[in-house]
Amino acid sequence: MNVLTVFAHPEPRSFGRALLDAGSSALRSAGHEVTVSDLYAMNFNPVAGPGDFSARRFPQALQYDREQKFAHQHNAFAPDIQAEIDKLLGCDLLILQFPLWWFSVPAIMKGWIDRVLVNGVAYGTGRRFDTGGMRGKRAMIATTTGCYPEMMAPDGLLAAFDINLWHLQHGTLAYSGFDVLPAFKAWSIQYTDEASRAGYIEAYVERMRGVENDEPIPSHTLQDFGADWRLKDGIAPRTAGHRRIA
Ligand SMILES: Cc1cc2nc3c(=O)[nH]c(=O)nc-3n(C[C@H](O)[C@H](O)[C@H](O)COP(=O)(O)O)c2cc1C
Repeated sequence: MNVLTVFAHPEPRSFGRALLDAGSSALRSAGHEVTVSDLYAMNFNPVAGPGDFSARRFPQALQYDREQKFAHQHNAFAPDIQAEIDKLLGCDLLILQFPLWWFSVPAIMKGWIDRVLVNGVAYGTGRRFDTGGMRGKRAMIATTTGCYPEMMAPDGLLAAFDINLWHLQHGTLAYSGFDVLPAFKAWSIQYTDEASRAGYIEAYVERMRGVENDEPIPSHTLQDFGADWRLKDGIAPRTAGHRRIA
C-alpha cells in the first residue's frame, strides 16, 4: 500500500513525533510505501484565500469551493496545494496524526483539510460518502490526548470519542468517500507514566503491521437515505451520529 500520513505537531521531540516515527517504520517494514506531510516542518500555509488559484471562474467575489472545482479542471491550483492533492491521489491509506486540540485537529491541519480535500477531487457534483472522490481508499485518525480514556467513555465527562471526532470521521473522511478505519488513541500523554507511553508506541506499531486487514467502522450509503435526505424506513441507524427521532 501507499500510505500518506499527514502529521501536525509543533515539537520535533514530542511523543506524537515518536509515535509517527515508530508507525512509519513499522509500515515500511511491512512492505508499504510511506509518505509523510509534516505540516509544521513544511511550514504549510493553512489559510485558504484567493492566492490559492492562478485562474478564477468568479473573479469578482471568491467562492472558494467553486474555484477549487474550476482550478481542478484548469490545473490552476497553487503549487503547494497541487503537491498535496497528488500525494492524496497516490495513497491507498491516509492517516491523519495529531494531538487532540479543542476536540479537533490543530489549525494547521484544518487548513490542510480545507485547502487539499478539494471540490472536484474529494467530493462535488453530488459525489459524497460511498460515491465520494476518495472511494476505494481508506483513512484513519491517530491521535494523542490530554484527557483520560474514561472521560471519553459514552457516559464520560466529555462524551464518547466517536461523537467528539464525528466531524472528522464522518464529516471529512467518510464524506470524501474514504472507508474509515477505527481511530488509534494514545490517552493522557503528559499525565501517564513512561511504561504506558511505551505501551502506546508498541500498540501503534502492532496496529500498523496489520492495518491492511483492519475493518472499517460502520457507515451508511447514499442509498440508505430517501429523497427527503432522511434515513429510509427500515434502515437502522448504524453510525455514532444517526438516530431515530420520535
Ligand atoms: C490548544 C490545545 C488544546 C487541547 N485540547 C485538548 C482536548 O480537547 N482534549 C484533550 O484530551 N487534550 C487536549 N489538549 C492536550 C493535548 O492533546 C496533549 O497535550 C497532547 O496530545 C500530548 O501529546 P504530545 O506530548 O505529543 O504533545 C490540548 C492541548 C492544547 C495545546
